[in-house]
Amino acid sequence: MTPAPRAAHGTPDATAVTTAGPALLDEARRLAPEAVALRRALHRGPELGLDLPATQRLVLDALDGLGLEIRTGRALSSVTATLTGAADGPVILLRADMDALPVTEDTGLPFASRNPGLMHACGHDAHTAMLVGAARLLAGRRDALPGRVVFMFQPGEEGEHGARHMIEEGVLEASGERADAAFALHVQPRLPAGALRLRPGPQMAASDRFRVVVRGRGGHASAPHTTIDPVPVACEIVLALQTMVSRTLAADDSAVLSVTRLAASTAHAVIPDTAELAGTVRTLAEPTRQRLHEAIVRVAHGVAAAHGATAEATVTTGYPVTVNDPGFTDLVLRTAAGTLGAEAVDVMPAAPLTAEDFSYVLRAVPGALAFLGACPPGVAPHEAPSLHSARMDIDEDVIATGIACEAAVALAFLTGDEPERPR
Ligand code: NI
Repeated sequence: MTPAPRAAHGTPDATAVTTAGPALLDEARRLAPEAVALRRALHRGPELGLDLPATQRLVLDALDGLGLEIRTGRALSSVTATLTGAADGPVILLRADMDALPVTEDTGLPFASRNPGLMHACGHDAHTAMLVGAARLLAGRRDALPGRVVFMFQPGEEGEHGARHMIEEGVLEASGERADAAFALHVQPRLPAGALRLRPGPQMAASDRFRVVVRGRGGHASAPHTTIDPVPVACEIVLALQTMVSRTLAADDSAVLSVTRLAASTAHAVIPDTAELAGTVRTLAEPTRQRLHEAIVRVAHGVAAAHGATAEATVTTGYPVTVNDPGFTDLVLRTAAGTLGAEAVDVMPAAPLTAEDFSYVLRAVPGALAFLGACPPGVAPHEAPSLHSARMDIDEDVIATGIACEAAVALAFLTGDEPERPR
């Protein structure tokens, strides 16, 4: 199938950038040893949250000499690098997250974490190394490049809203003009190495927390009739919340509500004054998200009132739904198929209910997030240690795949010249 023609963006030498096919993968493979070395250096020294000084240093050193305009963050140790092509054109933003997790590594790798209690267990080390590689590849093609590429290196993806902070500090306008599109990859050890998977519409969920405190009246456990026991009330709320989700939403409107914490008395013969429950709610559409937030509060209040108790229910919003733009998703699918081979690329049938703060970028700019399969050698994808596991590992060969994919998507968007999908 020949891709639908796209408007060209006035490049001085359009033919020079039409090699965004398999040749781009070869070029990425030549850059891979350096990128793998960077990934291992990052893996050895994981850092947490919004302040990643050693990580930032490694990225700045790796970008040195590429002729990019570099900015660092004020409130967080971000790096924003802009590549300006030889001709005018649109602006695309490519993003990597850089932070690690509070996990004690158990991989036995020779380059395992040297920072006690911290690990790159979500593959952000690989994302950072791939984006540096893509910057190197694209910088080498600057003379034939119309438009600009903004490379967004982001701290604080793991719950710290790093992307939102970078947006507040102007990353979307870093090139002088607002980004027209945005793209990011996330490695996934439970997909075959080198496989690219994404879908139009919701790609990942909104993730919000809730907490309910039930207030009754405590007393001796031998005389519950003299108390208002908050424990069975809390239990009824747990069950009512589950029923509420299954009876409120249509079968094809995915949502998950999990109560993960229950706490009440600390003694076996004491009925406490209060009981507490808390958990997470995951949704794939904003209206559903709002409905469930309201319903959590209503169910908690209603069930407590039925028993003469009261309840305080609070919902703390986390990351929004990660929504892929359908047109841009189509561009990624076609471009990746032309670069990596059609067999490597597929549309995901459903979105996982994990969350990503790249959602903030995709709420502001059309674009997409895609999963890059990274199952380590010698293990079946469904048995590979998952993201956030202390034994999480990747196939480092996919770093070249990621570099090629990011560069190809940027070239395709900027030049409007997508490689033809192989038959
Ligand atoms: Ni992650």
